[in-house]
Amino acid sequence: MKILKGTEDLGSVVADIVEHTLTLPQPKLILPTGSTSLSLYKELVNRELDWSTTTTFNLDEYVINPNHPQSYNSFMKKHLFDRVNIYPDNCHFPFRPTEAFEAKVTESLIIDLCILGIGSNGHIAFNEPGSSFKSRTRVVNLSEQTIQDNSRFFDSVDDVPKQAITMGLGTIMESKKIVLMVNGEHKKDILDIAMNGEVTEDVPASILQNHDNVEVLYCE
Ligand code: GLP
Repeated sequence: MKILKGTEDLGSVVADIVEHTLTLPQPKLILPTGSTSLSLYKELVNRELDWSTTTTFNLDEYVINPNHPQSYNSFMKKHLFDRVNIYPDNCHFPFRPTEAFEAKVTESLIIDLCILGIGSNGHIAFNEPGSSFKSRTRVVNLSEQTIQDNSRFFDSVDDVPKQAITMGLGTIMESKKIVLMVNGEHKKDILDIAMNGEVTEDVPASILQNHDNVEVLYCE
């Protein structure tokens, strides 16, 4: 695990990895949302990279109108997609039927790089504790903890969607390389449990111990 000085450094180190990935032919990326990813997207926009051959898949999306200001679709447009030369048709968000999205991610495409954050309960994407390590893209019920954590982005806790569509842990693990971005002291304990504790479906991020190309980057 690399410990970085602050969010700017965190964004810049992950942006270096993305920049390298964008030099590959027809790069395929899995992208996260959430406050931790903001420093990354800011840095990527500043670098004015060529995104014209890149295809992206977002990890998850609420069951919500995609035009809602708090949808992950809106988040990605605001912080990245509307600010770089990526083709909107190449930017994919989980949709129903989930099997069709899953096929899009996996058919003939090997994901070059998957960037993840971690939830305070150890979730990755919206794979909540108890998710099967073999899971694929599906509709999930959000845990009470996640609804509370994400209520800061909504007017009230009652406005937080109760369901989401998420890529599965099995899908994520097929990526060639995975980067886990973690920001904040409040995530220190769950990160330690996920990286050094038992590999168990009770702590979804612990599955990353089974991947042979994972970088974990942390800043307080
Ligand atoms: C959400 C997303 C996760 C993300 C997590 C952490 O729940 N579904 O993919 O990793 O938030 O977000 P933050 O960086 O805001 O703490």
